[in-house]
Amino acid sequence: MSRFQIGPYELPNRLFVAPMAGVTDRPFRQLCRRLGAGYAVSEMVTSRKELWHTLKTSRRADHTGEAAPIAVQIAGTDPAMMAEATAYNIDRGAQIIDINMGCPAKKVCNVFAGSALMRNEPLALAIVEAVVAQAAPRGVPVTLKMRTGWCDTERNALTLARAAEGAGIAMLTVHGRTREQGYKGAAEYDTIAAVKAAVRVPVVANGDIDSPAKAQAVLAHTQADALMIGRAAQGRPWIFREIAHYLATGELLPPPPTREVKQWLVEHLHEHYALYGEYLGVRTARKHIGWAVRALPGGEAFRAVMNTLDSIDAQVAAVATFFDTLADTHRLLPQGLAANDDLLALEA
Ligand SMILES: Cc1cc2nc3c(=O)[nH]c(=O)nc-3n(C[C@H](O)[C@H](O)[C@H](O)COP(=O)(O)O)c2cc1C
Repeated sequence: MSRFQIGPYELPNRLFVAPMAGVTDRPFRQLCRRLGAGYAVSEMVTSRKELWHTLKTSRRADHTGEAAPIAVQIAGTDPAMMAEATAYNIDRGAQIIDINMGCPAKKVCNVFAGSALMRNEPLALAIVEAVVAQAAPRGVPVTLKMRTGWCDTERNALTLARAAEGAGIAMLTVHGRTREQGYKGAAEYDTIAAVKAAVRVPVVANGDIDSPAKAQAVLAHTQADALMIGRAAQGRPWIFREIAHYLATGELLPPPPTREVKQWLVEHLHEHYALYGEYLGVRTARKHIGWAVRALPGGEAFRAVMNTLDSIDAQVAAVATFFDTLADTHRLLPQGLAANDDLLALEA
């Protein structure tokens, strides 16, 4: 896919990693970029000032070694606080600010933040205006991520998209589900196509893209400028280069060599421990390892054992042995990828 521009930043391609709280930390974003993603938005940072000093927020705001542009997502319900969060993150290196109106979870988004904002159009617009007013004079583009609407009867993505464009948004991402749907049901792409047809700013299509063929179908249906992939990249970050290759050539890449997958995972784990330390790092790495092995022969049994290990050495050694053993019989990674439903079951 050809290059793509957000504000002054040129991206190597049009395949983006979706922001996923608790997943797309810096090590995972860097891994996805290395394996073909052209752009990665960081996990959401709250606009609640009292939380900015917490370790969790400061880890999220740690962009050491990350390639430009550094895109930080913010969430909140108060325009003035969102403006402050914008300034705070720009001061700490954010080069693009993404406003989250796409997240359905209360525990993640706080009571009325995220996609709930789509229900209150004047407030949503006031937030966009406040963030743009803060970011534009500093040359920082503002992007917006939203769902198709609040519920089936209130599918207002189009209205909001037009208003946000008028307020100076540089790019719009639409996840093809309503807030009410959460992650259930299938994403629909008609609303994304309608938004794309209605605005001039680039539109990114998101939701249920889990294969090169699906990527091509979503592009064709929506005419979107770029694609954003979330859950399908969990445990399979090379999906970006698989999609890029397919879109460029019409051919599917063979699965990656098992030993290469091991290498990527072990390197990812070391980056992960470096950010979180041993105690938290080993525990939070379990989900990444679980995603990586879930569809592999012996993966479930391995996961159960791996979850009982609590040191870096033991965890890395177990992962290395699992993949080395698999590589003895499977030079290329065995296929049989779980569907998104399985991914959701894992998240629950
Ligand atoms: C674990 C998890 C965390 C998420 N966190 C965020 C978030 O912080 N901000 C956001 O805008 N969307 C968040 N999302 C939504 C994703 O960015 C994306 O819109 C959604 O998963 C649909 O894309 P997919 O089908 O490719 O996964 C999250 C999704 C998941 C599964």
